[in-house]
Amino acid sequence: MARLLVTGGAGFIGSNFVHHVVSQTDHTVTVLDKLTYAGNRDSLAGLPEDRVRLVVGSIADADLVDALFAETDAVVHYAAESHNDNSLNDPRPFLDTNIIGTYTLLEAARRHGTRFHHISTDEVYGDLDLDDPARFTESTPYNPSSPYSSTKAGSDLLVRAWVRSFGVRATISNCSNNYGPYQHVEKFIPRQITNVLRGVRPKVYGTGENVRDWIHADDHSSAVLTILERGEIGQTYLIGADGEESNRRVVETILELMGEPPDAYDLVADRAGHDLRYAIDATRLRRELGWRPRFQDFRAGLADTIAWYRDNEAWWAHAKDGVEAFYASKGQ
Ligand code: NAD
Ligand code: DAU
Repeated sequence: MARLLVTGGAGFIGSNFVHHVVSQTDHTVTVLDKLTYAGNRDSLAGLPEDRVRLVVGSIADADLVDALFAETDAVVHYAAESHNDNSLNDPRPFLDTNIIGTYTLLEAARRHGTRFHHISTDEVYGDLDLDDPARFTESTPYNPSSPYSSTKAGSDLLVRAWVRSFGVRATISNCSNNYGPYQHVEKFIPRQITNVLRGVRPKVYGTGENVRDWIHADDHSSAVLTILERGEIGQTYLIGADGEESNRRVVETILELMGEPPDAYDLVADRAGHDLRYAIDATRLRRELGWRPRFQDFRAGLADTIAWYRDNEAWWAHAKDGVEAFYASKGQ
C-alpha cells in the first residue's frame, strides 16, 4: 500500500486514474487540483473517503506542494492546461501551469527524494503525413506545433534535466488521444456527442481528414500504473492502443450509434497550425513491461461513452453553453 499524490486528479484523465487506482490497488490517493474550468469535484463522487482526499490548490504553490510531498510516497502528475484551442486564444496559463507548475513539483521531488511520474502527450513529436508508414517512437525528435504542445515538450525536458542533473527518480509517458467518461465538453468526442444530444449538428474542423490515435482513458490508467510500478527510472514510455481514426470517421460513427444519418455534420473553420496525424508505436511498453490495452474495440468503447454522456447530463450541462459560445466566436 502506498500514498499517492495525483495532480490534476479532478480532470478527465486524472479522475479516471483515481477511479482505476481505487478499484485495482490498496493505495490511498491525495488529489491536488486547482479546480479550473476543467476540474470537477463531481468526477470523484462516490469514491471512498478513507482512500481519496481532494486538496484544492495549485501545483505552482511551492509551500502547499512541499507540505504534500512530505506525506507522499509517489506522485503522478496530470495537472495541466490541456486544450489546444484555448492555447491559441491565450497561451499564458499554459506557461504558468505546464512549465512553472511542473518545475515547482520537480523541485519538491528533488528535496524529498519522491518517486515522480510525469504525464505527457504524443503532440510533443509534431505530426505525421497521412500516408507516412512511420509512427512516433521514444526516439522521434521533438517538434511541437501549438502553445499547448510546446509547453508540454518544455515540461518533459525539465523532467529529463532533473533526472540527469539532480538524480530525481522520474519516468515520463507520452500518450495519444484519450476518450471515455468525465472528458470536458470542449474536446472533440464529448462536444459532438453532446451536440447530437441537444439536436445540434456536429462540427468538424477543416476537411476532417486529420487522424488521431484513440485510446480509452482506462487503458491509459493501467499503462501509467504499470510504469509507476515497474518502469525504469529516467525512461520515457509511449502509450497507445493502435486506434488511428480520421475525425470524419469518428463523427460518422457517433452519428450512426446515436441513430442519426452519418453525414449530418458540418465542416467548419480549421484550427490554426492543425496537426494532421498522430500515431503511436507502443512496442517498448508492451515488450519491456508486458502492458496490454483492454479496450480493443473503438466502436464499443464509443457506444459506452455515448451512454455515459446520455446518463450524466448534470455532470456536463453547466459547461456546454459557454463552450459553444467560445467556438461560435471563432466560426467553429
Ligand atoms: P483536463 O483539462 O481534463 O484536466 C486538467 C486538470 O488539471 C483539471 O482538473 C484542472 O483543474 C487541473 N489543473 C489545471 N491547472 C492546475 C494547477 N495549476 N494546479 C493544479 N491543478 C491544475 O486534462 P486531461 O485531458 O485530463 O489531461 C491530463 C494530462 O494528460 C495533461 O497533462 C495532458 O497534457 C495529458 N494528456 C492528455 C491527453 C488527452 O487526450 N486528453 C492525451 C495525452 C496526454
Ligand atoms: O494527442 C494527445 C492530445 O489529445 C492531448 O495532449 C490533448 O490534451 C488533448 O486535448 C488532445 O488534443 P487534440 O487537439 O488532438 O484533441 P481535441 O479533442 O481538441 O481534437 C481532436 C481532433 O478533432 C483534432 O484534430 C481537432 C478536431 N476537432 C476538435 C474539436 C473540439 C474538430 O474537428 N472539431 C471540434 O469541435
